[in-house]
Amino acid sequence: MDSIRILGGAPLRGDIVIGGAKNAALPLMAAAILSSEPLTLVNMPELADIATMSNLLRQHGVRVDQSALGAGSAYAEAGATGRTMTLTAERIASVTAPYDLVRRMRASFFVLGPLIARCGEAKVSLPGGCAIGTRGVDMHLKALEALGAKIEVTAGYVHAKTPTGLTGAHITFPKVTVGGTENLLMAAVLAKGDTVLENAAREPEIGNLAECLNAMGAKITGVGSGTLHITGVTSLHGARVAVIPDRIETGTYAIAAAITRGRIVLKGARYDLLDAVFAALRQAGVTVDQTEDGIVVAAENGLVGVDVVTEPYPGFPTDLQAQWMALMATADGASMITETIFENRFMHVPELRRLGADVNVHGASAIVRGRKKLTGAAVMATDLRASVSLILAGQAAEGETLVNRVYHLDRGYERLEEKLGACGAQIERISGG
Ligand code: UD1
Repeated sequence: MDSIRILGGAPLRGDIVIGGAKNAALPLMAAAILSSEPLTLVNMPELADIATMSNLLRQHGVRVDQSALGAGSAYAEAGATGRTMTLTAERIASVTAPYDLVRRMRASFFVLGPLIARCGEAKVSLPGGCAIGTRGVDMHLKALEALGAKIEVTAGYVHAKTPTGLTGAHITFPKVTVGGTENLLMAAVLAKGDTVLENAAREPEIGNLAECLNAMGAKITGVGSGTLHITGVTSLHGARVAVIPDRIETGTYAIAAAITRGRIVLKGARYDLLDAVFAALRQAGVTVDQTEDGIVVAAENGLVGVDVVTEPYPGFPTDLQAQWMALMATADGASMITETIFENRFMHVPELRRLGADVNVHGASAIVRGRKKLTGAAVMATDLRASVSLILAGQAAEGETLVNRVYHLDRGYERLEEKLGACGAQIERISGG
């Protein structure tokens, strides 16, 4: 297994181009199942999770064609390096999403809604738990049942059928669920009649999906609010849609600038998607400026501890909680970080402690007492965002940090060593075979 070696302690200075959002791209790819015509996605990131989703869709019969970003396109001019992907689901060859692919990536579950809507049947493996919590799919299933799907869970598979098609319904999620909202949207667009979805997630990635579905001929209103109205249509057509910039990648590199007391220009990022994060950074003493060149994030010594609570969008994202903790470990004074989305998302704490961070966990909150310096050590990555928090802490730490088991990183961070290296980071991947 690969590891990453970092020689930390130097401020990072330079430009980083932000890629397309993984969490937007994955449901957009699944949406291709809904039409027999091609769906073209622009600004696609090159990540292991995207390759996994491509493989899953291929075995459902979807043709996946990729090409480099066309020269002269607005994204290429903004410096983006993403790809264009065209997905054509002329015929669905199989309605089964096998365990072997779903267990690798929970987002595989996104095929459930579109498969039921298009084929009237789907058999999708249950995703199982993961490092950060049990992560059930009960809300996805209850919502699909409300649209008329008959669901049985047997031998680890969700088997859903709608012999007479889906019918619109009034659904209220008991708790905000990003994936549940996306699955339900992709099913309801082809249901008979109207669907109202209350307590829907408001994440920008959902806006991107709704924009895509509407471009394919769906009728969704209320996008960006907690209540979505969907009027079902009988079929969807092809479309061309751009993936929004990755707000978690943006926030991660903003924290990289702050934790090393450096200056990074984030190019191709969208400022408006990170209001809560930039507000917290400013409160900590970091400078964040939106300029024509990009978002400029700069910091000097004297950062102070700031409390954050993770919340559904537009609150502080859980996917930046681990990175925030690394930053707070280097700030003056104490800060409290409260995780409200996942029940077990402090796996990075023992590893950050190995680098000298002073963190104590009390239930869903962690108290971080900033230290003058962190020191390099060997650490183990546990999940995607935890891995990157260790990379960030390693950049700030004096001496050598070895982050082991980094395969998680490749799921969500495109060319990370190259991007940080261009800002002066001494970082290299060691192939473990
Ligand atoms: C998505 C993101 C993930 C992010 C999370 C919260 C993708 C591919 N992943 O995950 O990066 O951390 O949103 O912003 O977009 N839950 C249930 N039952 C359900 C559904 C969810 O109990 O049926 C629980 C989960 O265990 C979790 C909480 O609800 O505690 C929120 O989960 P959800 O918003 O659904 O997250 P994901 O869509 O899995």
